[in-house]
Amino acid sequence: MEQFVIRGGRRLCGKVAISGAKNAVLPMMAAAVLSPERCTLKGVPRLRDVAVMREILERLGVQVAYRADGTLEMWARDLATCEVRDELSRQMRSSIFLMGPLLARVGKVKVAYPGGCAIGPRPIDLHLRGLEALGARLRERHGYIYGEAVRLRGQEIHLDFPSVGATENLMMAAVLARGVTVIRNAAKEPEIVDLQNFLNAMGARITGAGTDVVRIEGVRDLGGCQHQVIPDRIEAGTMMVAAAITGGEVLIAGVIPEHLESVTAKLREAGVAISFPEPGQMLVRGPDRLMATDFKTLPYPGFPTDMQPQVMALMCLAEGTSVITETVFENRFKHADELRRMGAQIKVEGRAAVVKGVPTLFGARVEATDLRSGAALVLAGLASEGVTVVEDTSHIDRGYEQLEVKLAGLGAEIERRPALQLADPDGVG
Ligand code: EPZ
Repeated sequence: MEQFVIRGGRRLCGKVAISGAKNAVLPMMAAAVLSPERCTLKGVPRLRDVAVMREILERLGVQVAYRADGTLEMWARDLATCEVRDELSRQMRSSIFLMGPLLARVGKVKVAYPGGCAIGPRPIDLHLRGLEALGARLRERHGYIYGEAVRLRGQEIHLDFPSVGATENLMMAAVLARGVTVIRNAAKEPEIVDLQNFLNAMGARITGAGTDVVRIEGVRDLGGCQHQVIPDRIEAGTMMVAAAITGGEVLIAGVIPEHLESVTAKLREAGVAISFPEPGQMLVRGPDRLMATDFKTLPYPGFPTDMQPQVMALMCLAEGTSVITETVFENRFKHADELRRMGAQIKVEGRAAVVKGVPTLFGARVEATDLRSGAALVLAGLASEGVTVVEDTSHIDRGYEQLEVKLAGLGAEIERRPALQLADPDGVG
């Protein structure tokens, strides 16, 4: 395991470039299985989740090449198997994205039931019900889901909840189905628009992504394509909070500001100055005094749940009391325990966390429990007095490309170290 060691108190200043979006890349990597021709993604970030998805694809028989410049080439000419083994699918919930493409391409799939994770049980009932509506026959046995379909057929599907993953999985299943599929109450995240653009570049006929009604007209087969991945709005939002929490001034480049409208609006409410000097850029200046602000997470375009831990860290240092309500996941406040170890005053009551601002946070040894809570602890460390050690960077590396390098480039005192192996107290080795 590795840890981030951070000495707080430095105002971040300078320019940082945003990497490609993890949550756009993962479904698009799965979508490459739909075509026997080469698919090329540009701007793919070097992340642990990308490496796991690559491993899954290669085990299926997909040829994958990943260049230093972030270009990812995939070629699913022949598939060797339709099974996603549990040791991989347990590592990453996004393995479930292979169900749609494998059922559409070969009519068979075997994938281990993805485990829950630190932010909740994360069921997949909406994925499974939608695939059955398209004609797949599914059964679960010994922790695996087995699926078969002669040829999927188009269908009207209404999602109980605008699930991002279910919307994406069903789009990928429907592109080769016979007839038209309409997904209602679809999720509207920008990553879904990016997936639509990628699939249409392969020859699919999809319209409506970014609205709550996505229409997919099935085609006989798909070709290859080249596609530039959209920038990661959550990494950008995390850098916005890094500037805000340290009272610094950071130019964030290579972003799409429209993807961050709710984050921009709420950070301005907290007193953060945000401007757009050039297309694709955001200039973020942290105030001397942060104002307590209430946040409520909602599906896009509402305030993103993936920014909730980061703004909780920010509100720990605001003047006044903030209420943060998490409506998307059942259990996404684990970072509150760790922030309290740094001197934060946070009371969690069900889906709401009440954060009473304090003048100072203090460095401590804290534990990342998931990707975004880890990022929140790093942000808190940047603004704390003394040294913070954030254990287990592997969670953070799932979704942030060289976070410590980017922050150090802005003047942060942060480094990555192997975790100290605490000597066995009994010395018995
Ligand atoms: C995607 O997860 C993202 N991951 C998550 O980002 C993000 O937090 C989430 O969307 C919400 O925006 C990727 O895109 C790889 P959901 P996903 O299906 O698809 C419930 C990060 O930090 N639900 O929209 O799993 C579910 O339990 C990660 O980058 C069902 O009940 O999210 C949750 O409460 C974390 N049944 C809610 O819907 C289902 O079949 C939202 O889940 C599916 C979901």
